[in-house]
Amino acid sequence: MSHVFISTHPLVMHKLALLRDERTDPKKFRELVREISTLLVYEATADLRTNPVMVQTPMGQAEGRRLAENIGLVPILRAGLGMVEGAWQMIPGAEVWHIGLLRDERTLLPIQYYSRLPVSPTVDVCLVLDPMLATGGSAVAAVDILKKWGTQRIKFVGLIGARPGVEHFTAAHPDVPVYLAAMDEHLNEAGLIIPGLGDAGDRMFGTG
Ligand code: PRP
Repeated sequence: MSHVFISTHPLVMHKLALLRDERTDPKKFRELVREISTLLVYEATADLRTNPVMVQTPMGQAEGRRLAENIGLVPILRAGLGMVEGAWQMIPGAEVWHIGLLRDERTLLPIQYYSRLPVSPTVDVCLVLDPMLATGGSAVAAVDILKKWGTQRIKFVGLIGARPGVEHFTAAHPDVPVYLAAMDEHLNEAGLIIPGLGDAGDRMFGTG
């Protein structure tokens, strides 16, 4: 899994431990998801292309760099929504395109219920946002949709991945790098990551 990057940043690890804690309430949970997303997006965008630019400072001219790529944030509803604000902190000009997927509780397969992408891609790089990569089905389906759309470059940014799901994802989309705060070893029979953090959507929206 050469394209899987697990953050070792102390701030990410500290905040992730708070996020996992069952005593963390929805308000704090949302704050932590936002903050960790900012840090992960910073790491995931280290290879974005830039162009040279000259800037007039109060003291003279300075050489600088300006982003040369249009970025699209693609949150997978619902839980991916919680990562958008954090990503926007780093890339305020990013477009946001929503994809709605829910897992069938019996088969654990994703069912698409929302996507309104325009006919042709409007961005150069898509960051797919979803806190949890469990079986990997939702992430695979979201990237399938974006590839069909014609996006050239796609990255997946999540908080916790389960090893079997991450392996499933990288086998299906070996060209799509995965950025995570942690990789857990197991999934239970209900498709929940063990130890994980529970149901991210429910904890975020207070619906558990
Ligand atoms: C969760 C999670 C991912 C998906 C991961 O969403 O946010 O989207 O499950 O599971 P997978 O890797 O096995 O596909 P869920 O379907 O529970 O919907 P929600 O975000 O609306 O709660």
